[in-house]
Order: sequence, then C-alpha cells, then structure tokens
Amino acid sequence: MTGKAFYVTTPIYYPNDVPHIGHAYTTVLADVLARWYRLNGYDVFFLTGTDEHGLKLQRAAEKVGKTPKEFVDSMVPVFKKYWSLLEIEYSRFIRTTDPDHEELVKKVFQRLYEKGYVYKGSYSGWYCVSCEKFYSEGEYVEQGGQKLCPIHGKPLEWVEEETYFLRLSAVQDEVLKIIESGGTVFPEAYAREVVGRIRKEGLKDVSVARPKTRVYWGVELPFDRDFVAYVWIDALLNYLTGIGFMRDDDSFQKYWPEAHHIIGKDILWFHSAIWFSVLRMLGLDPPKRLIVHAYIVNRGLKMGKSTGNVVMIDDLLERYKSADAVRYLLMRLLNLEKDVEFDQSLLDSIYNGELADTYGNLVRRAGVLALRKLGGRVPRADPDPGLAELASSTIKRVAELIAEVKVSEALTATFDLLREANSYMNRTEPWALDDPTRPLYNTLEALRVATNLLYPVMPVTSELVSRAFGFQLFPPAELAFGQVEEYRVAEAPILFQKVK
Ligand code: MSP
Repeated sequence: MTGKAFYVTTPIYYPNDVPHIGHAYTTVLADVLARWYRLNGYDVFFLTGTDEHGLKLQRAAEKVGKTPKEFVDSMVPVFKKYWSLLEIEYSRFIRTTDPDHEELVKKVFQRLYEKGYVYKGSYSGWYCVSCEKFYSEGEYVEQGGQKLCPIHGKPLEWVEEETYFLRLSAVQDEVLKIIESGGTVFPEAYAREVVGRIRKEGLKDVSVARPKTRVYWGVELPFDRDFVAYVWIDALLNYLTGIGFMRDDDSFQKYWPEAHHIIGKDILWFHSAIWFSVLRMLGLDPPKRLIVHAYIVNRGLKMGKSTGNVVMIDDLLERYKSADAVRYLLMRLLNLEKDVEFDQSLLDSIYNGELADTYGNLVRRAGVLALRKLGGRVPRADPDPGLAELASSTIKRVAELIAEVKVSEALTATFDLLREANSYMNRTEPWALDDPTRPLYNTLEALRVATNLLYPVMPVTSELVSRAFGFQLFPPAELAFGQVEEYRVAEAPILFQKVK
C-alpha cells in the first residue's frame, strides 16, 4: 500500500517535572491513532518530545542549581522511560534544543522578519511563567490587590520590555476563514470558541521575543542577538522540524498534508489562532486536523502539580500491572468535549468488569476448552449468523468511530461483541458437547475480531492472544469473520488479575 500517509503529533511537554496521567492521556491517544493507521497500512510518522526553552525551564533549573541544559538533559530520559513503560511507539522524540530544530527556528524567524511579519516594538503586560504567556485585563483573577493566573492561581509578573511582534493582524481574515469553514479544529465546538474570540477581540499582534537580559535560555533571533524567540513560537515549530521542513522535502511533502495535532483544550488558542497564522505567513496549509480533548480532572480541578491533585503514571501502572490496562482505562475515559473526573473506584470497576471478567475470562475459557476438548486444534465450522453479523458490523463501526476519534465508544462497541461472545458460549455450552467445534470456532472468531480491533489500545495483549491462539493480526479493513482455516491454540493465558 503506497501513498497513504498519516502524521500525528502530541504537544511537546515541558520537562520541568515528570509527566503525569494528564500527559499520558494525550500521548496514549496519539499512539492509538498511530497504531491504528499503521495497522491499516499507512506510512505513519508519530512525533512527540519536549519543550525545553523559556523562563519556566530556566527557573526550574536554577532552583536545583543546574544549567538549563543539564537540567533538561536529566529530565528527557524520564519522559522517554514513561513513554516506553506505556508502550508508546513514536517515530521521533524531538527536543527543542535539537540542532536541526534550533536552526529551523532561526530560519523561520529570518523569513518572517524579511517578509515584514516580525517588527520591533515595546511591550508591557502581566505574565504567567507557568503558562509562559501574557494575560490581559478580564482574563486574570484579582485577589487581595494581586493579579493571579486563572490557571495556576500564582501571582502574575509585570513585564515591561522591548520586544518583537508578530503581525497576526495581517492574516486575521484568512485564519478566521480557515477555522470558520470547519473540519480543521475538531470537535467543532472548539472551532466555534476560537472564532468567537477572534471576532470579539480580533487577532492582535503578539510579542514573540524576550530580551536576553531576562530570558537567556532560548533560540537567539538571527537578526538581533539581544533577543531570544518566545518559547511558544519555538515550540510550535517543532511540528515542522520533526518531518524535515526546509531540510527533507520529500518527507515534509509526504507528511505535512496529513498532519493531525492532538492537544488538550488549554493550548487551543496557541494551536489555532497563532499556529495557523504562522503557517499562513510561511505559505503553508493548516494541519489537516487539530484534535482537541478536554481534561482529566481530580476533585473538579485540572490535574496539575501546582494544584496538588496529580495522579502519577506509576500509580496506575502499580495498580493495574500492565501498560495495556492503563492505556485501556485512559482511552475508556477519553472525552474530547467534556472533562472527566478521575475516579479510582470507577476505574477499578471498568478494569474488573471489562478487562478481567469479560475479555480475560473469555480468552481463558475458550482457550482451556479448545485445549481440553480438541487438543488445541479448532478447524473452521459453520458461522453462527448472529455472531458473524455482529462481528462485521463491529468492524465497520469501530473504523467509523476511530475516524471520529471516538476511541471510548470504539472500545465499548468492541466489548459489546465480547459480551455477546460470552453469552453465545453460555448458550451453546461447548463444554457439554461431544464435538464442540462449531461453538468454539465461532467464539474464537469473535475473540479474534475483537482482539484485532483492540490492538491499537492494547498492543501487548493483542499480540499475546494472537500468539497463544495461533492467528495473525489483520488490517481492520481486511478482517472478516470466518476467515481462519484452523486455530492452533497453544495456551490459555490469564490476561488480567482482578484488583480489590
Ligand atoms: N509545552 C507546551 C506545549 C507546546 S506544543 C507546541 C505545554 N506543555 S505541558 O507540559 O503543559 O503539556 C500540556 C498538555 O498536556 C495539554 O495540552 C494536554 O495535552 C496534556 N495535559 C496536561 N494535563 C492534563 C489533564 N489534566 N488532562 C488532560 N490533558 C492534560 O503546554
């Protein structure tokens, strides 16, 4: 299969702290899409990484007595370790301190400067270092005579300095048209939010540089070495560096038209209004899709170190024992539009009810019976019409749902098939039959279809089951009930131990 490409990105995370399950939520979703498209024969490029410059990182490093570079170098392995523990298979882990990226940032700034999109000026405003952004009146919270960040609740810092501006006003109409015409910012409600804000406030020129005297940790502007690039513009450009913009034309031309950025709703404005403007100025199309999700909240608040309500990736890995279970649970919660509350007892009941009792139990029962009653060999038999039809409609439905990034619904649909297979087995009672070939074959087929569809979310489990039962994983489009000639069951694994 040639010609089909898929490019998916996560935000690049600030490595000032270890990643938590909020970061894993985005990264696992990106990995699920990457695996789904890979399984379907697409040439996939999956980019993730770290956003290493700026005042926030500079201060975090100072606090522990390290240089910023030493500090970020010590944090990157931590991110990589967690992504590996969660079976994240990225194509490149990009760091904004990578030489090819710094070079690109300089080239882009030079180009924007030459085109007259970047100009010198002076700026004053209230700045939140944790967000790395300015807040205007009406946006910040006033408390006891102090101006606080609406997200972090920390005091804002007054900043008054010379800077360079990016002339967003010059592309406002084009950017508005892109977002308004629909299909790019997804789900649509987020597009409406951005359009509303642009209509209300207009796209004002933004400051895109910091004087080196204040922030030394950044990419120097090529036309004025007293300034460094504002960290957000530096960061957004990673999406171009990652696939070789201005460096590897073939790669860039192949992947950019298929770009899918996945982000949390906190960074929607940067990724729509600002990012689409920069792309416009560079003469590039917007990404194919900007996929936005809501938050995982804990006790009603967005999870965050400063809020003190974070759940760590280790907490979930320790409790549920496997990457696949954690990936499954995060994707079962996934909701693009609404915040979801982190609720341990809900996760326990999903884990026990779905993974252990429904999927795990079916694999175990079918495997044990195949071994005990048929020596592990289960040849093709007449398909059960009801089960076959449900399997076919599930394959179709899951593909439609994944295309709409409804991963949680896709899992539910797959588990409907597993539940039906469980009750089919209860109805047909293969354990009581002299020749249980037909019910066992049908059960295994339903299990195989479901296992295939679960692969993007639970790759380790899918591969384990496919090995234990002796079948191949297929691209979903080529998956059909009844296509296996003969099962050769080697073992009946216990997939998930219940939690108490
Ligand atoms: N460095 C910037 C992004 C630059 S991208 C060009 C940044 N980094 S971050 O470390 O703060 O990560 C933010 C992202 O982490 C969110 O957009 C979201 O994808 C994810 N999440 C962090 N906490 C989250 C929740 N509590 N819930 C869901 N996602 C969360 O912003």
